[in-house]
Amino acid sequence: MAQILGGLGTSHVPAIGKAIAMGLQAEPYWQPFFSGFPPAHRWLAKARPDVAVVFYNDHGLNFFLDKMPTFAIGAAAEYCNADEGWGLPVSQPYRGDTALSWRLIEHLVEADFDVTTCQEMLVDHAVCIPMELFWPGAHPPPVRIVPIAINTVQHPLPSARRCLALGRAVGAALAADPSDARVVVIGSGGLSHQLDGARAGFLNPDFDRLCLKALVSDPEALAAYSTADLVELAGSQGVELLSWIAMRGALGAVTPVHQVYHLPISNTAAAMMVLENRAAA
Ligand code: DHB
Ligand code: FE
Repeated sequence: MAQILGGLGTSHVPAIGKAIAMGLQAEPYWQPFFSGFPPAHRWLAKARPDVAVVFYNDHGLNFFLDKMPTFAIGAAAEYCNADEGWGLPVSQPYRGDTALSWRLIEHLVEADFDVTTCQEMLVDHAVCIPMELFWPGAHPPPVRIVPIAINTVQHPLPSARRCLALGRAVGAALAADPSDARVVVIGSGGLSHQLDGARAGFLNPDFDRLCLKALVSDPEALAAYSTADLVELAGSQGVELLSWIAMRGALGAVTPVHQVYHLPISNTAAAMMVLENRAAA
């Protein structure tokens, strides 16, 4: 049986990738964010995952507004990155796990999640930056990945409730999986930010703190928000919170291990969280 060891949430602001590429982690602007990661690295060294299921949103590298799946899951042997125009170095391909991907897809479709299956899939900064943050300097990182893209870009978006249910279905699929995979589930994006429009630069620390608390002990409270509420409260890009909600859905009762919250990084309230899945502990 596959084991879900825990969940990791992190922001994926492209400037974080630039800071890593330029070695700026100790600079005053960056230190409060990066200094929060060693506890996550220590937890990962103990947990020894060999698979990462990554909930994230594609920003136009793999899907564009003309064709936007609500939920898309990778079933490729490897996942390449490409130049998105942010000036980030192009990452090495990540190793996939096609057999596990297809077992998850079978389970999800059986559970009435009609996911788009991707036997070729480019992954953007929303996958690459979490990989660099959690496994710094490991090229490729020591995990096979299963990317699951959630549309947070082209309205209508899937509801928070649906994303929590998707995460739960992934958790159930992993619990029933015949492999002995050691799995971490990643939620990539957020927290509050809005990059465009009249509210560009909008941040909402009160709502972010509420979310970080609810992600630990009451994810149902987040599932109750409508998409319109989430745009209002978290910002038009802060809806990337949906990936954290899906991540949380895959876990049972959790013990919070570590958390970082610091703003701003670029135009974003940046956060990181490590949740240990009690069933695995
Ligand atoms: C920023 C944040 C994001 O989530 C993203 O995908 C791109 C840019 C930012 O704050 O600059
Ligand atoms: Fe983003």
